[in-house]
This record gives sequence, C-alpha cells and structure tokens, in this order.
Amino acid sequence: MTLPIHQYFPDAGQLILGTMHLGGGWNSNPVSGQDIDQAFDLVSRAIESGINVIDMADIYTFGKSEQTIGELFKRERSLRHHLILQSKVGIKLTPTFDVKQYDLSGDWISSSVNASIKRLHDNNLDILFLHRPDPLMQLDDTANALLKLHEQGKFEYLAVSNMHAGQIAWLQSALNIPIIANQLEMSLASSDFVEDGITTNMAQNAQNGFPRGTLEYCHQAGVQLQAWGAMAQGLYSSEGEHDDKNVMATRALVAKYAEEFGVDANAIVLAWLMQHPSNIQPVLGTTNPERLALATKALDVKLTREQWYLLFETRRGIEVP
Ligand SMILES: NC(=O)c1ccc[n+]([C@@H]2O[C@H](COP(=O)([O-])OP(=O)(O)OC[C@H]3O[C@@H](n4cnc5c(N)ncnc54)[C@H](OP(=O)(O)O)[C@@H]3O)[C@@H](O)[C@H]2O)c1
Repeated sequence: MTLPIHQYFPDAGQLILGTMHLGGGWNSNPVSGQDIDQAFDLVSRAIESGINVIDMADIYTFGKSEQTIGELFKRERSLRHHLILQSKVGIKLTPTFDVKQYDLSGDWISSSVNASIKRLHDNNLDILFLHRPDPLMQLDDTANALLKLHEQGKFEYLAVSNMHAGQIAWLQSALNIPIIANQLEMSLASSDFVEDGITTNMAQNAQNGFPRGTLEYCHQAGVQLQAWGAMAQGLYSSEGEHDDKNVMATRALVAKYAEEFGVDANAIVLAWLMQHPSNIQPVLGTTNPERLALATKALDVKLTREQWYLLFETRRGIEVP
C-alpha cells in the first residue's frame, strides 16, 4: 500500500512502534539494565516483524524512554540504519507534575530537541513532531527556531500532533519545509474521526471531538495521518467483565472475527482502523514483543464492509443514522 509518508520515506512500514511506556515507567528511578534489555527485545521484534518507525517524545517517562532508545544505539550502532526515528517537543512536564504546560517557543523547542538528540546518543531525528498546539505560540519565533534546527540537520522533516487543519495550514504558511504528518487519537474506541463524517446536520455532531475537515485536509495536502492509542489500550482485546455492555458486545465480536481470521484480537482492532481510506499509520504502544508481533497480522486482515460496519455499530451501541 502507498502511504503519504512514502514520498519522504519510501520504505516506511504502516505500523509504528510507540515508546511511551519504555524506560522503567513514570517515576524518578534511573533507567536500569533490565529496562534496556526490555527495549532491545521489543525493538528487535519490531524490526523482525517489519516495523521500522519508532515514535518517541521528549517527555515520555521524563526522557527515560528516549534515553533507553539511545542506549540501544550504543549497544548496536547498526540498529540506527534500520529505523526511522520520530520524536516530539512541545509539552513541558516535571516529575512533580506542578504546572503542566505546552511550550512551542523557539527557545524551548531548541533546547528540548538538542536534549532529545543527546539522549539518543547523538542521533538526529528523521521526523520532529510538535506534540500539541500551544495557545501562546508566536508563529515567527517558532518557525525561526524550527528552520534553524532544520538547517543544522537536527531533524529532516517536520510533523504535528493533535492539530486541526487550520493550525497545520497556518504553521505551514511560515515554513518552507513540508509538514509531513499529523498524529491524533483514532481507534475503534476513539472513533469520532468516523462519527464526524456521518453526523453532519445532526445535533449530536456538536459533541464530536474530532476537528472537522482535518482528515480531508491531510488527505489533500499529502499529510500522513498517524493514530495514537490505536489498540484502544486493549479495551476490545482484553478478556473479562466490563461495566459497559457495548464494550462487552464489541469484545465478543472482535473475538469472533479474530477466530474467523485466525489472528489475535488486536489485529482486528487495528485492521478496522487501517481499513479507513485515510491510510492511517497506527502507533502501537505495547511493551510486549509477542503482543506486538501478533498485532502486525492486522496487515493481512481484510474485513468485509458488513464486518467493518458491524464493529463500528456495536461499538457505538446503535446503528448509523
Ligand atoms: N501524540 C500524542 O499526543 C500521543 C499520546 C499518547 C500516546 N502517543 C503514542 O502512541 C503510542 C500508543 O499509545 P497508547 O500506549 O496510549 O495506546 P495503545 O497502543 O492503544 O495501548 C497500549 C497500552 O495498552 C496496554 N494494554 C493492556 N492490555 C492490552 C491488550 N490486550 N492489547 C494491547 N494493549 C494492551 C499495553 O500494555 P502492554 O505494554 O502490557 O502490552 C500498553 O500499555 C504511545 O507509545 C506513544 O508513542 C502519542
């Protein structure tokens, strides 16, 4: 399948490995040898399974996630050549969680990107993401810092996350380097990206959280869509009881299709997402190599139109309008 990202990275796989949970967790414990071994097993299994894009952020586990990936490059230099590295800047967090804030000021972007590269053992980024829109962003200041970092070769391409079409277009107007991707929450559980398109003219559309026109803008502008939370944190692939009857019904249907296709439940959840014609790249946040490898079987699943709609309608608890 040809994805918008293939204009820039012809070999990029459709599935992406997310690293939000690597590095020993959201605590102040230093990265341990065990954390590095865990990441090594996961990344090795990702590569074996055809995944070559790694999604990171400066804040994940307070920098320990990037540090862990950096340790992998120390351990095996050649690993870098197999991977497309993307990381993010723009959220400020401290271990005491005092004032959570966004910061897309030029100064913060420069210092944070340089810190990420240092943690990554001096490996520059293939794609730099602006993690979230910052209401206090001064466009020229942000654009100047990005252009400078780009000239210095600190990153090759720029991308955004959690932004709507207007924000992307505005940012692009100040930059002569293309914005090549937008990462948003999209999954069978967070399906407002589908709801938005089918509830036009209906009162319930006012409740829709997905930014109108963003799918279409990205499609037209050649901006790759990436989905975070794509496995719905296991909501439909876990077993056991759940208070919500729609979740229970969706779990049962996912399990039925998984058996029919001979795949893991996550493969069905992901196949549903990838079957949307927006050519979405799902970001998989599992730390479990076996779960990751089984999930890649999603690439072989082709749901029928009836199966796709039945999953969607079971999840929403009511048929489409
Ligand atoms: N751009 C943004 O704003 C943003 C926000 C959040 C995340 N992200 C990116 O997206 C990636 C994925 O996000 P995510 O981790 O929230 O979502 P996810 O991939 O949907 O969920 C994975 C998480 O769910 C857990 N899980 C529990 N049971 C599971 C099951 N049966 N199947 C699958 N997973 C199960 C996993 O645990 P195990 O490790 O035990 O499998 C893991 O902690 C992150 O790593 C990060 O790279 C980006």
